[in-house]
Amino acid sequence: MAGIGIGIIGCGKATQTLHLPSLQQLSGRLRIVAVCDASTTVAREVAARWGADRWTTDPAALLASADIDAVLICNPNRFHAATATAALAGGKHVLVEKPAAMSLADLDELIAAEQRANRIVQVGYMRRFAHGYEIARARLAEIGTIRLVRVYDLIDAGLQLIADTTDLIRDSTADPASLNLMQDEAVMIRQAIGETTTEISNAYQLLLRLGCHDLSALRGLLGRPRKVLHAVTRCDGAYLGATFDYGDFVCRFDLGLNIVRTSRIGIELVGAVGTLSLNYQLPYVRHLPARLVITLTDAVGDEVRAVHESRGKDQFVGEWQEFADAIARGRAQVNTLRDAREDLETAAEIVEALKQMATR
Ligand SMILES: NC(=O)c1ccc[n+]([C@@H]2O[C@H](COP(=O)([O-])OP(=O)(O)OC[C@H]3O[C@@H](n4cnc5c(N)ncnc54)[C@H](O)[C@@H]3O)[C@@H](O)[C@H]2O)c1
Repeated sequence: MAGIGIGIIGCGKATQTLHLPSLQQLSGRLRIVAVCDASTTVAREVAARWGADRWTTDPAALLASADIDAVLICNPNRFHAATATAALAGGKHVLVEKPAAMSLADLDELIAAEQRANRIVQVGYMRRFAHGYEIARARLAEIGTIRLVRVYDLIDAGLQLIADTTDLIRDSTADPASLNLMQDEAVMIRQAIGETTTEISNAYQLLLRLGCHDLSALRGLLGRPRKVLHAVTRCDGAYLGATFDYGDFVCRFDLGLNIVRTSRIGIELVGAVGTLSLNYQLPYVRHLPARLVITLTDAVGDEVRAVHESRGKDQFVGEWQEFADAIARGRAQVNTLRDAREDLETAAEIVEALKQMATR
């Protein structure tokens, strides 16, 4: 059969609203073969709605299928590293939702598994594939020497948006406690960052769930911060602020989950001769553009402004295209596990700064 055979493990909100429509759009190249979910209802109904040949509740059964070349891992975060390792052992290429792992130790085991398997692993940092982001990268030098950077990502979880726009297949009989990520991940978080306050461990969770997108996007534009100068958390860990040192300039970094009613997601760069401002929207409504505004000031003070709002390519479609390209070329170029490691290292530095603040 033509196309790369895809298996999906975890069929909740992200799979149904973001990945399955993207795969359907790219059906000439990527073929949905089988889906797996812990819930029988979800697995069976998702398979029926999206035309998968098979469904299962057992990830191992899916990974044993010879007609599956690659898997999407989109189950809760605490399962990512173990499921990805099992997929690699089964000879599959892997697109793993962020975060690739909950700790540096787990990520290093996954990196070792990737090397043994000689397969592609790509991490789901889809913001890198937004058209506005690609233009921002290409035109960054035009704003001159960078003086200040601000990254902010204050979101609501998007549940109302999803309810308003999608007929999601859910399992109403599932035990709500098993869906409580904050509670279930607590043990792994303790292993990752040690005994600390609830507020700091919530802030680390915020970095894993949300902040890794921002760290990745920032790193893609400017490289990794040299060090974390300062970090602070509020709202029981639902807000996190940090300042990064980039040598000649600093970057303000702010995250928040469910502390504002309307999501605000952006990267702003102020250069000596211009500014670049990129704003994302929650991804659940597809094809909404990231809005990029570039303002350049000439020698007499006149400003020229360019606004880019391309609706052409959804960022998740771009992510899947890059994954298919990486499989074809035999090498992952962006959003590799080593990229993810840099983000986890920065997250660990932020946690250290939070701990220091807490003892002052
Ligand atoms: N890239 C993005 O912008 C983005 C957006 C949302 C979520 N995500 C990521 O996607 C992943 C899933 O998030 P979600 O919002 O869809 O969560 P969700 O709770 O809606 O869905 C998770 C699904 O996985 C199933 N599941 C639980 N344990 C499982 C297991 N061991 N094996 C197989 N299935 C299992 C659940 O029954 C559920 O259907 C998370 O890692 C999250 O970080 C990414």
